[in-house]
This record gives sequence, C-alpha cells and structure tokens, in this order.
Amino acid sequence: MNLYWKNKPEKIDPSLLSDKKIVDKLNVYPNQKTKNILIRSDNKVGISSLINSNAINEINESGGIKLIYIDPPYFTEKSQLMKKTKKEIIAYKDIYNHSLEEYLNEIYIQIKLLYSLLSDDGSIYVHVDYRTSSYIRIILDEIFGYKNLRGYLIWNIDNGAKSKKFWSNQHNDILVYSKSNKFIFNSSSKLLKTDFSESSLKTHFRKKDSEGRAYRERKINSKSYKYYAEDGKLVGSVWNDIKSMEANSPLMKEYTTYPTQKPISLLSRIISASSKKGDFILDTYCGSGTSLITANNLNRNWIGIDQSENAIKITKSRLDNNYYEII
Ligand SMILES: C[S@@+](CC[C@H](N)C(=O)[O-])C[C@H]1O[C@@H](n2cnc3c(N)ncnc32)[C@H](O)[C@@H]1O
Repeated sequence: MNLYWKNKPEKIDPSLLSDKKIVDKLNVYPNQKTKNILIRSDNKVGISSLINSNAINEINESGGIKLIYIDPPYFTEKSQLMKKTKKEIIAYKDIYNHSLEEYLNEIYIQIKLLYSLLSDDGSIYVHVDYRTSSYIRIILDEIFGYKNLRGYLIWNIDNGAKSKKFWSNQHNDILVYSKSNKFIFNSSSKLLKTDFSESSLKTHFRKKDSEGRAYRERKINSKSYKYYAEDGKLVGSVWNDIKSMEANSPLMKEYTTYPTQKPISLLSRIISASSKKGDFILDTYCGSGTSLITANNLNRNWIGIDQSENAIKITKSRLDNNYYEII
C-alpha cells in the first residue's frame, strides 16, 4: 500500500545528502575507545554520512543496528520552547511551513534512510501522536511492509487537564515494525511486566505460599502452572503504567527542562523488549537524550543525532564521557 502526496520524494541518495566533514570524522570512529556516537546535525545528513563512512562497516561487524527509536516532532505547527527560562528559548521548531506535505517529506526520507541502516533482524519504534500517526502508519507499511507491523502501542500519557469542548487527547502512538520475520522480543524481561489490577488480585490470587507470597494456579493442557502476583503480568499494546510526569515534572529527578522529554521507564521497556546487551540502538531525533541514557543503563551501545544545540547540551549533561562526539 502506498500513500501519495504533493512532491513526495522519489529518489533518496545518501551520497548526495552526506557531509564530508562528518564522514571524515566517522571514518576514524573505528580507532576510538568507545562505540557510542553523538552527532549534532540534521538527521538526513547525519544518517547519510554514517552510511557513507567506515563507521557503518565497524557497526555492522559488531552485529549492526538492532533497534531504532524515533520521536520526531508531531507537526504541532509551533516552536517548542525550553521550559523554566525567563527569556523565550526555542528548543526546536515544529512548523514545517504549516504544510503536512513538507512534514511527511521529512519523515519519509528519514524512514527510508533508516530502513537501509537497520539490521535484517532489527525493529523500529516510531513515536508520534494523533496528528500524524495515520499517515506515518501508511508510510511505514510502504517501506517496511504492512505484515511487519509488530505493535501499535498506545501510551497513556495521562497529562491531567481535560478540555470541556471536545475529547482531550491523552495518548501517544508508538508504531513498531520489524524488517523481517526474525526480530528480538524479550517477553521475559521484568520491564515488560505491569501490576495485576486490584480486582484480579482479589479474585484470582487467593492462595499464599510458605513465604506468604500470593499466587494462583492455572491448568493448561492438563499441566499446572503457578503465577505469583508479585511477578506482574505481561503488558499488551496499551501502556497505562508509565507516567509522563516522570520526565515533565520539575519535582522529578530525571526532569531536564527540554520540551517533549520522554521518561526513562518508557525507553527502558522499549529497549529491553527489542534489543540485547551489547546491541546498537539508534535515535535520530534524540532530543534530551533519554534513549541514549537508557541504552547506557541497559548496557547497549548507541548512536544519537539531533540538530538542536540545546538538545545536545542537555544530552551531554546527562551522559558520562563515554561517547565519540561529532559536531
Ligand atoms: C520530540 S523531540 C525528541 C524528544 C526526545 N525523545 C527526548 O526524550 O528528549 C524531537 C527532536 O527532534 C529534533 N529534530 C527535529 N528535526 C530534526 C532534524 N531534521 N534533524 C535532527 N534532529 C531533528 C528536535 O531538535 C527535537 O530535539
């Protein structure tokens, strides 16, 4: 299935988009002590330069990029401002000349380039919202194939204030695609578990073991299985248990003043679901660096790109020095 719009890009050639200075720096990446890369540039340029450099051979030899997470601007048609500043400071612009076509062109080029970089057993998570998720889904269907849709996740951001005039939007959409039938999904990770509801605990988890732990027993094909309440249950496509406040409230430890910052717990779930220790994670709209910090925490390698000076400044302040920086 293809989506057509005015001036949809036809040929996307990384050799025309790449920047020699970035390529030169990436060519010496194999000599660096670290595997992590932070690039400040437009993402089409950053990615194309990576494709045209020696760095990609080194990355592919280490297993390639297994997971891409992107959280692009949502086409709010506004500038996103840094929080808690006396003067207005723009973090990044999300205007695209008020043209949906122009916005979709950017996303289309980006996803085409990312597709060529992703390893054959890799996955991509595209985090958007109600404004563009329907269009982006069809773009992803076209590039990845609709059969490779592995999740249409609804993240309940539950940000409090509700409009009395119309239905308030209270969720983001995260579209998950794999490149092939072979992909990582660590369903046994603790980070993919959520608490049982009160009613389920009361109804089903009535038994206690010798240590006082509540459990239930279920028979499947005449075999008996024990489930402990404290282990939680595997989450499905609706995520209600991760609060956006974790990243948006000045009272929280991880808050940075960068607008649209995402919670570390959200990225922890995504990264632990779709990659393994030592794998490479790529984020070409890294903003305040949440995905990169989380990749570090979970012992993954990472490549982060953003064009915003403030984004890179904040990202660096959240990281140790273990990365190769290209600006
Ligand atoms: C929604 S924010 C990402 C927030 C991030 N996930 C976090 O947790 O902080 C989108 C980011 O995309 C960046 N961006 C937008 N267009 C870009 C482009 N063409 N190249 C590189 N970065 C871009 C913006 O600077 C902004 O930081």
